[in-house]
Order: sequence, then structure tokens, then C-alpha cells
Amino acid sequence: MAGKNTGSWAKIYAIMNNKGGPGKTSTATNLAVTLARSGNKVLLVDSDQQANSTEVLANGKKYYSMFGPTICDLYNNPRTDIRDVIVPAVAGEAPIPNLDLIPSDPTFEKIIEQTLTRSHREKIMARHLEKVRSEYGYIIFDCAPGLNIATGNAIYIADHVLVPVDGGSFSLSGLEIMLDYMDEISETDYSRFSVFRNNFNGANKKINAVIEKALTEHPRIAPRLLETKIRTDQAIVQSQVACVPLFYFQKSALSLNDYSKLARELEALTEQEVV
Ligand SMILES: Nc1ncnc2c1ncn2[C@@H]1O[C@H](COP(=O)(O)OP(=O)(O)O)[C@@H](O)[C@H]1O
Ligand SMILES: [Mg+2]
Repeated sequence: MAGKNTGSWAKIYAIMNNKGGPGKTSTATNLAVTLARSGNKVLLVDSDQQANSTEVLANGKKYYSMFGPTICDLYNNPRTDIRDVIVPAVAGEAPIPNLDLIPSDPTFEKIIEQTLTRSHREKIMARHLEKVRSEYGYIIFDCAPGLNIATGNAIYIADHVLVPVDGGSFSLSGLEIMLDYMDEISETDYSRFSVFRNNFNGANKKINAVIEKALTEHPRIAPRLLETKIRTDQAIVQSQVACVPLFYFQKSALSLNDYSKLARELEALTEQEVV
């Protein structure tokens, strides 16, 4: 089992990094599938206007507004019923057991701008999700790069923020800016987060040493560094291009073991966290 939430109140993970490309979408989609395959009912919220999770879990439908309601409707109109926005996730045409999706759409960026004058704007998703939270074991947010209001909404409601760090785009100052935003939204010194290495290739000894040193010497990040690393695996890229979650694209992919390990480590860690 890759981790199971046996409570009747969904645990909420937000996958976040203020940069594009470190692995938010690949982690969100593959972690969601891993947890669903372990028997948990899972909802993935695509909170990124790039709609890459929607592409992967809705068979390539990036411009989802053409097909039905999206996260844009939840932000646009408080009276939208969240149940009308939730759809079953699919691998190709086949429904993925236990996995649902709130799709995004490229127009989401504009919609977020329009919420800037609304009061309690960081609580929009919390209000909507309240209605369905007891029906899920896990809710996973795939966040946009950048610290916009939709990301603020994810921080506000998340039990745990998960930050992928990639060899190519690693920036300690970027991580610090994100931690500041997490403190601001939560009005505390936010500690319910963890950082993990994605796209990890053991052969890149020099880069790995630099990143490892920066992370382990940072007083706030060091205690929050996960043991799990997601290895570099071309099957991850190929599955994303094919708009199919990795498990359904290549069941033998070795990195699937890493996502299972990540699910287990997160489960153990969040058990100890007091919300
Ligand atoms: N572990 C990995 N190994 C190889 N490629 C990866 C890995 N993780 C992510 N990628 C690729 O890197 C690119 C960016 O990843 P993605 O998850 O879309 O990042 P983000 O959502 O943070 O922008 C995608 O092409 C993805 O397939
Ligand atoms: Mg993404």
C-alpha cells in the first residue's frame, strides 16, 4: 500500500514551487494515481492556468471550458456547485478508478486577476471544498508557478505543502520567497511543508552536491527535506506528452516505485503534524 487515509476527512496536499518545470504536475498527477490505486478516493484540483494536469487526466483536453465547467467557474461565481465541476479522471478514454478531477483552463489567469478585489479571496476554494471534503481520502492541488491568489487558496486550505526541487531550475532564494508567502497566508511560521528532489540523476555528482549542501544547510528547509527522491525517468516525459498518467502509459516504469515511496513518506510525516 502506498499510503492510506482511513479518516473521513480528506487530507489536502498542495504541490507548489514558484518556478515552472521542477515537477509539480508530474508529481501531482502520479501521486494522485498512486493514492487512488491504493484504494483512496482522490480529487485532483488543477489550479494552474497551463492546465497540464487537465491534459493528462482528461485525455488531452487543455481548453476544458469548451467541454464543461472548470475551476474558473468556482472562482467566478460563489454559487457554482462544486459537484457540477468535478469529473472522473480518465486514462485515454477509460475512467481511472477512485480518481476525480477539477479541470483548469487557460482563461484561469484572467479570472484570478478579477478576484483580486474580492474579500476573503484566499478562502474561495476552502468554501467550495468543504461540501465534498468528507467524500475523499485525499485532495491534491497542482499549483501554478508563481505566487498568485489560486496558490494562496491552496496554502490556506492545505494540510501539507509539497515542494519539488529540480536540478536544472533550483533556486534557494525562490524557495525562501515561497516560504514567506506561506507564512503570510497562514499568519504563522509555516512548517507543514516538505521539500524533495525530483528529476534526480545520481550521475550528476557536482550539481547534486551543490543542491544537497544548499538544502541541508538551510535552517528552515533542512528538517523538512524528504528522503524520497524521484529519479530522472524519460517515461515521465513521454507519458506527459502522450497525456496519460505514467502508470497507464508504462506499468514497468521504475519511477513508479519512487511515487509510491513518496506517498508513504508523506503519509508518515503528516500523521505527526498537528493541523
Ligand atoms: N523525474 C523526472 N524525470 C524526467 N523528466 C521529468 C521528471 N519530472 C518531470 N519531468 C519532466 O519535466 C517537465 C516539467 O515537469 P512538470 O511536472 O510539468 O513541471 P511543473 O508542473 O512544475 O511545471 C515535463 O516535461 C516533465 O515530463
Ligand atoms: Mg505544471
